[in-house]
Amino acid sequence: MSETRRRHTSTASSATADFVVPRRRPIVLGNWKMNKTTTQAVVLAQDISNHYYRDYDRVETVLCPPFIDLKSVANVLEFDRSALRLGAQDVYWEESGAYTGAISPAMLVEVGCAYCIVGHSERRGLFGETDRDVNRKVQALLSAGISPVICVGEGAATREAGERPTQEFIAGQLEAAFEGVGASGAARSVVAYEPIWAIGTGRTATPEQAQEICAQIRGRISERYGHATAQAVRLVYGGSVKPENVGFFVQMPDLDGCLAGGAALDAPAFIELVKAFL
Ligand code: 13P
Repeated sequence: MSETRRRHTSTASSATADFVVPRRRPIVLGNWKMNKTTTQAVVLAQDISNHYYRDYDRVETVLCPPFIDLKSVANVLEFDRSALRLGAQDVYWEESGAYTGAISPAMLVEVGCAYCIVGHSERRGLFGETDRDVNRKVQALLSAGISPVICVGEGAATREAGERPTQEFIAGQLEAAFEGVGASGAARSVVAYEPIWAIGTGRTATPEQAQEICAQIRGRISERYGHATAQAVRLVYGGSVKPENVGFFVQMPDLDGCLAGGAALDAPAFIELVKAFL
């Protein structure tokens, strides 16, 4: 990452001089969604691991396969002594009990997950996940020592309604997700801005749109938790990120990485995303 990228006017600060913001470690996550049987997942994880060189470690790189593939992918990474990290796509907030089909934070810890996506728009839209559910998941994950990757993002109708409704919508999702969460928990979280209209559509937000929302998110976190926490939280963009467009997002001062869907299923393409943030 270049000095220019780091040297900028922080949007979450009252300071206006250009000063060097403490560097956040970039993070690139691959959300495999409901793709890859266990056999296929092992092949993809191995392929990514083979393409992943030691000096890419400056970018924290996280594979998020389906639950059923986690153990097999963990085995591949362990065998390769890989610096690649493991993440889940969802969690349930209870510790254990009669919750058929659910997976607890402790189960994710034992399999080796360092991260877990929560509040993805597909879970919100298709499976009825509410802001309250997202908050419970965030709290349960933080208690278990897993960093939540909190997805926020507006639909096309909200975006078309204008800047203010879009900002208010995202602020509402963010406030709800962090309800009852302390500054250290917030600092360990990742917030992913994923506008719904850009997911799987090939239509990305412009880097300026993503930067504007991420600056706003950082500003809200600063108001709530203070400047230091806001500067520690990593913000990523997701929505049709590809090797061809990732370079534009890298330039944006409040973007610390990306959350890829489609491009995460192709090892060389995924590695290009990682390399862009080096
Ligand atoms: P695509 O990269 O396929 O648009 O998916 C983005 C996403 O939803 C990642 O969580």
